Amino acid sequence: QKRKFISVSRTREQMMNKDIEKICLRKKTIAAGVRRAARWLDQQLCDCAKTPLLIAVLKGSVIFFCDLVRAMKTSVQMSFMTVSSYGNSTESSGAPKITTDLSVDVAGRDVVLVEDIIDSGHTLLALKTFFEQRGVTSFRTVTLLDKPSRRKIPINADYSCFKIGDEFIVGYGLDYNEMHRTLPYIGILKKDIYLSEQNKE
Ligand code: IMP
Ligand code: MG
Repeated sequence: QKRKFISVSRTREQMMNKDIEKICLRKKTIAAGVRRAARWLDQQLCDCAKTPLLIAVLKGSVIFFCDLVRAMKTSVQMSFMTVSSYGNSTESSGAPKITTDLSVDVAGRDVVLVEDIIDSGHTLLALKTFFEQRGVTSFRTVTLLDKPSRRKIPINADYSCFKIGDEFIVGYGLDYNEMHRTLPYIGILKKDIYLSEQNKE
């Protein structure tokens, strides 16, 4: 008698990536965090005279940003900027550079900066200073992830979805050497992946 096999198609989440040590935030957990952030922003922005402007810091925050704006009830305008601080290492260089500036005038606008992760705090401080100098009406920062134990500058985002420990993580937009941004979950990168690279330098 022939046995019938039920074909089970594995989701991308079930297919563990070889470079990932452990999944720390699953797809569903992330989605719930994004919804909470969207509700917080809806409340914060309900009294704005003009349409609020949400700015994504590329590239790490782009997947979070797209999910966030669609989970919000408030209609917003979107803009993008690029800040580089990392290069190929897992340590912040401490001198972030704005490599792609905004195409809109932010003076007199209610601005929300959307970050992927606050680590040392160098990037957040640089961006906060940048926006304050440009005469925004209000400025808020939302981050998907926060590594409070890594802070070198005493600065925090106004809203953070998840706090994590001192671990280098990838997925859901975050990368190591431009890899792993498209993973649907957030996972801890295996240490030997970046230690072997650092030893080459
Ligand atoms: P900070 O200036 O040290 O706070 O660094 C912030 C930036 O470093 C983030 O926007 C990320 O691009 C990057 N970063 C920090 N920690 C991680 C991590 O664990 N995985 C991936 N990127 C990270
Ligand atoms: Mg970034």
